[in-house]
Amino acid sequence: RLQTEFAPRVISWQHQHGRHQLPWQRTRDPYRVWLSEIMLQQTQVSTVLGYYDRFLQRFPDVLALADAPLDDVLAAWSGLGYYSRARNLHRCAQAVRDEHRGSFPRAAAELEQLPGIGRSTAAAIAAFCFSERAAILDGNVKRVLTRVLGFGHDLAQSRHERELWALAEGLLPAEGIESYTQGLMDLGATLCLARSPSCLLCPVQPLCRASAESRPDAYPVKTRK
Ligand code: ADE
Repeated sequence: RLQTEFAPRVISWQHQHGRHQLPWQRTRDPYRVWLSEIMLQQTQVSTVLGYYDRFLQRFPDVLALADAPLDDVLAAWSGLGYYSRARNLHRCAQAVRDEHRGSFPRAAAELEQLPGIGRSTAAAIAAFCFSERAAILDGNVKRVLTRVLGFGHDLAQSRHERELWALAEGLLPAEGIESYTQGLMDLGATLCLARSPSCLLCPVQPLCRASAESRPDAYPVKTRK
């Protein structure tokens, strides 16, 4: 039942209640999408909105970023924190310039080889820009999926993390990967919160194991580090 009903519910919720007007949602330019995903990794949407357009004015494309001095990139990043992200951003732009003739690769598996792009970020870029059916699994999405699935294993164990990735892949829709991916992110950010989730408003509540058990707070299980 999850297999057939989960993704359609996420997609139609995204169409009706998700976020559509964010600046990085109105483009399929991988440079712009990549930049937004890196900024959003450890920073709230509301904060990123104050930096994103200014950063793009300063560095309008990946070559402008690659050719700029690192200090200029760090200055434009100033205030966003986690400066290793800015250093990797610069290294990644140079790798795209030097190893990919200035164009981002289109496949998630290749994007993942670039500096600062992990598996989930690679999948998000490939899904949003190139409609690749690739699973994302960032912190918010881990919470959504472990709850829905009643996945009670410790994600600090790599075997269980791999298992959750495989389950995430099994839930992907045949069509509409862009809305599905954004919908999962938005569910995790707006309803399926770590504390006091809004299960009454959730489009997948009828399918959700954690809700059936009245134990959303029991997921995700994380014990050892
Ligand atoms: N967090 C990470 N990626 C995001 C996106 N594309 N939209 C909103 N929040 C996000």
